[in-house]
Amino acid sequence: MGKLEDIISLCKRRGFIFQGSEVYGGMAGTWDYGPLGVTMKRKIMDEWWKYFVENRDDIYGIDAAIIMNPKTWVASGHTTTFADPLVECKECKSRFRADKITDGFTESITTEEFLETHTKCPNCGKENWGPIRKFNMMFKTHVGAVLPEDDKENPELAKNNIAYLRPETAQGIFTNYKNVVDTIYPNIPFGIAQQGKAFRNEISPRDFILRDRECSQMEVEYFVAPDTWEKYFEEMRQSQHDFLENVMKLPADKIHELEVPAEDRAHYSKRTIDVMFDYPNGEEELMGLAYRTDFDLANIERESGKSMEYRDKTTGETFIPHVIEPSIGVERLFLAIISNAYTEDEINGEKRIVLKLPENLAPYRFCVSPLLKNKPELVSKAREVYRILREKYNNVTWDDSGNIGKRYRKQDEIGTPKCVVIDFTTLEDNTVTVRERDTTEQTRVSIENL
Ligand code: GAP
Repeated sequence: MGKLEDIISLCKRRGFIFQGSEVYGGMAGTWDYGPLGVTMKRKIMDEWWKYFVENRDDIYGIDAAIIMNPKTWVASGHTTTFADPLVECKECKSRFRADKITDGFTESITTEEFLETHTKCPNCGKENWGPIRKFNMMFKTHVGAVLPEDDKENPELAKNNIAYLRPETAQGIFTNYKNVVDTIYPNIPFGIAQQGKAFRNEISPRDFILRDRECSQMEVEYFVAPDTWEKYFEEMRQSQHDFLENVMKLPADKIHELEVPAEDRAHYSKRTIDVMFDYPNGEEELMGLAYRTDFDLANIERESGKSMEYRDKTTGETFIPHVIEPSIGVERLFLAIISNAYTEDEINGEKRIVLKLPENLAPYRFCVSPLLKNKPELVSKAREVYRILREKYNNVTWDDSGNIGKRYRKQDEIGTPKCVVIDFTTLEDNTVTVRERDTTEQTRVSIENL
């Protein structure tokens, strides 16, 4: 595993991830995915979708709107409770999350408790703090043409136009629960899955893509009969480990579970296990598994006046289902995979950087190149091999830049598992050299057996 600076540098140098709005000096907490980054990100998301939706009979996908009726956030509790403890240094005016700059505190830290810790400002080193304020992390926007400042006569009307960018994809699922039940008629237990953007006005975005203001979540809300929640909580716990270890190929010894104590749990959760990962800067939350009870559906029922009850087809019993929620951020998964893959080794006395990405996640599976690019007969044969491989796999790249050594270095750095090279022997016997990324071993393979 590399240091975070090395990974950030490689991501920029090779076109995986750039600072958002870099050309204007950047926009903190936002990141843009370049050609290689977006390919890898999509592969991660596709694998998740295959695992949790396509390969299961009991989980259905949806894609809901990002801007939702503001009642959503009243019912979900986000309007009142989705807030961090913000503290400002009176000397340098820097703002921080109070619980993050002191040890052993949670989001419920009070001003008195904070002042007793005698924390120094991480920016200027002074100790002169203002009071802790609760800072709601939802991004506000206005829908339609009426802004509060425009409508002096009827400000209440303008207030009705305030909306929020969703801070979690989960609410798009809960608000569609009834639609799915009434159109698909699923047997309980069943799940609804969604992938998409979520927005949080984080006080201090940090650690590259670990804590962002705009992130992508992949969430399942799994609806179960109330007295069965423990069984399905356990099942989801196993599934997410299986997904992380066997599909994302993350090593089990870097994955840890943290049973979240009641005072640290989100307002909707009766049990949460955070899955932690050993990132370059230490152990951090990768994903969460929460037992959300009937909190969300019961609140939607109250706020909308519409029944959220489910009628069990075999027993005839009616109840509001309880919910198990595995929720994972794509960026955190991306960072776990790329930092785990980052390796520095030495080949023939020369230092090399290699991304040992799993084949299913590497941006390219094969790189095809002619040994020499100024030999038309090699180039045309290589193009033929390239076409053959592209018909089989959609992620094959072509590289004829620099010399072969430089090409190998580049493909190692972007994690391409196999380089296929066409040389003069190819013209004689139709075999090519296949070079393995991790071992650098080279074997000759006939084109038809590629
Ligand atoms: N629906 C439940 C929910 O949103 P959460 O623990 O707040 O729960 C779930 O978020 C996951 O989303 C986290 O475990 C993390 O992977 C990701 N996530 C949350 N906030 C994030 C942020 N600011 N930047 C990147 N990822 C974030």
